[in-house]
Formats: sequence, C-alpha cells, structure tokens
Amino acid sequence: MTREDMAALVAEAALAPSVHNVQPARWRIDDDGATLFEDLSRRLPAADPTGHDAAMSLGAAAEGFCLAASRATRGVRVERLQGGGETGLRRTAHFALSGPVEPDPLAEWVDRRSSFRGGFEKASPADRDAATALVGDDAAILADPATLRAVDRHLDEASWRFMREDPFRRELLSWMRLSRGHPDWARDGLNADAMAMGPIAARGAGLVLGPMFGWLARAGLAKPLVSEGGRIAKDAAVVLFHRPVGEDPFDSGRKFYRLWLRIEAAGFGAAVLAALADDPEANAWAKHVARIPQDRRLVSAFRLGRRPAGPITARARLPIDEVLIG
Ligand SMILES: Cc1cc2nc3c(=O)[nH]c(=O)nc-3n(C[C@H](O)[C@H](O)[C@H](O)COP(=O)(O)O)c2cc1C
Repeated sequence: MTREDMAALVAEAALAPSVHNVQPARWRIDDDGATLFEDLSRRLPAADPTGHDAAMSLGAAAEGFCLAASRATRGVRVERLQGGGETGLRRTAHFALSGPVEPDPLAEWVDRRSSFRGGFEKASPADRDAATALVGDDAAILADPATLRAVDRHLDEASWRFMREDPFRRELLSWMRLSRGHPDWARDGLNADAMAMGPIAARGAGLVLGPMFGWLARAGLAKPLVSEGGRIAKDAAVVLFHRPVGEDPFDSGRKFYRLWLRIEAAGFGAAVLAALADDPEANAWAKHVARIPQDRRLVSAFRLGRRPAGPITARARLPIDEVLIG
C-alpha cells in the first residue's frame, strides 16, 4: 500500500465515535502498517478520570482502521503496546497489514453512522420488533414503552448527578461549540448541530450550563432544563451494551463501534446514553431490568429510532494532517 492508501485508512478510522468527540487517536504510518497513539492532551479529567472512555474511543478508532483495511481487502494483525512514546503521546497498538480478506459487511456503514440526538419518528410496533431483533451476545434490548418511561426517569436522575458537578459541567461546556463562529465548530467537540440545538437553544444551553447554573439549581429550575424531557419513551428501543467484567476498555470500544454499525445497518439512528452505564445507581437498575448476568459489565447504552427525513449533519473532525504524526 502507498502512503496515500494508508492515509485513507486512517481517515476512515477517524470517523469512529469518541467521547465528547475529543478524537484522541493519532497515527504514524510505518513500513508494515501503522501505530496508534493516544494524544494525552485530549483526556477529560472530570468526565473520565480513569481514562476508560479514552481507551474505548481508541478501541473504536482501532476497529475503524481494521474495517477500512477490510474494505481494501487487507487483513490486520493488531498488537497492543503498553505505553511509551514521545511527550504527550502514549503508544497504544500496532497494526500490521496482512493477506487478503473479504470486506467486513459492517464497513459500508462507517460513512453513514453518526450520533443522532434529535427526536426520532414515533416508533411503530414494527420498529420496536426490528429493534428487539438487535439482541445479541453483548446487546440487551429494552423496547417496552413502560420500561422506556422508566429509563427516561433513571437517565434524568443519573444525568443530573453528573451535571450538578461544577468540574464536569465546566469541562463539557469547554467541548461544546455553541455558535458557528467557534473556531473549532467543524473540528472537534460537540457543536450545536450535532446536539440538535437551534441557535436559541444553543445560547440557552450556554447560559444554563454556565453562568446561570448555580442560580437555576437553587431555584430548582436547572434539573428540568437538563432533562431528556421524556422523549426516550417514544423511541424504538434502548440498547444496553454489556461485556465481560474485567475486559480491557480498548477491546470493549472495538465491540461498541461494531454494535453501533449493526444498529445503523438495521436502518436506525442512535445516540449514546453513557450516563445510564456510568452512574452506579442507574447501571444497577438497568442491569436488573434487562437481566444482565453478574459476570457482565454494563458498559454503555444507546437510544435508537428511525431518523426523520432531512439532511444528515456533517461530522466535526480534525483534518487528517493533524491525526497523522510524522
Ligand atoms: C466512550 C464514549 C462515550 C460517549 N458518551 C456519549 C454520551 O453520553 N452522550 C452522547 O450524546 N454521545 C456520547 N458519545 C458519542 C460521542 O459524543 C460521538 O461519537 C462524538 O461526538 C462524535 O460524533 P459522531 O458519533 O456523530 O461521529 C460517546 C462516545 C464514546 C466513544
């Protein structure tokens, strides 16, 4: 493969999801493939103090690389690397291209996948059935309307427990791009389009999460403003992503991306509901309701439904020459 071919694989890997869209993956093209590094400056000390979500994001990027290589009919041998690297970079894995393989059928969904955080079309019974059919080794499905209403409540409580923490909110706000004039609008983080917010809602979010939060919280008004507003009850389903207890989050991230692509392949749009898994109370409740065994960890969750007709929001991504390191 030429350097340009390899750069094209990296560009496809960069379409993978990452927490807050921080895009921690950096790649160096070498003689037999590529090396993946974590850019440590992209860590989220408040939201992700252990680096778990960073590792999942790197795993998703790794899976993206393997999917892209398969589309070019090349297999990949992945070797995990334990740290080291230049200042600010942590060596994470090496990818050696190997012999010919059949393209992975999920690869064709990479380009079409994106987070959909708006309102889905009201789910029909057929949609709920199609969503229920996504059940798998690492996916439990909640599609009954009464259970989805309960998800709404637990998720709101869980989100509130994170949102009321000043460092969490401040960090989240620093990755939000609330106006098109923001220099990083199209590069990284969460822009208003990606969050399905119009300009007025975006300005409101900046105030609610920023200077007005303390006052609104004391007046009991902040909590309803950061709520999902009961909309999950109208979605087709919530998918609970679970993996073996003790699994390396890098490996969970690879499977997480594959599940998301499977959701897209079934014709659904999805958004991540990390708070449902990250909050211990909500996690315990969801595991119980979905009868997820004790030797499995509830790692993440998605809401999903049929996207309404309309243009798909462009994904914010760093230019390839910043993702590639020399
Ligand atoms: C570990 C992890 C946690 C995430 N948590 C959330 C979340 O809580 N809420 C959300 O809306 N998106 C979440 N996402 C999705 C990212 O925000 C999203 O992938 C990123 O903004 C890139 O946008 P895209 O999915 O449209 O490509 C998460 C992604 C990862 C990998």
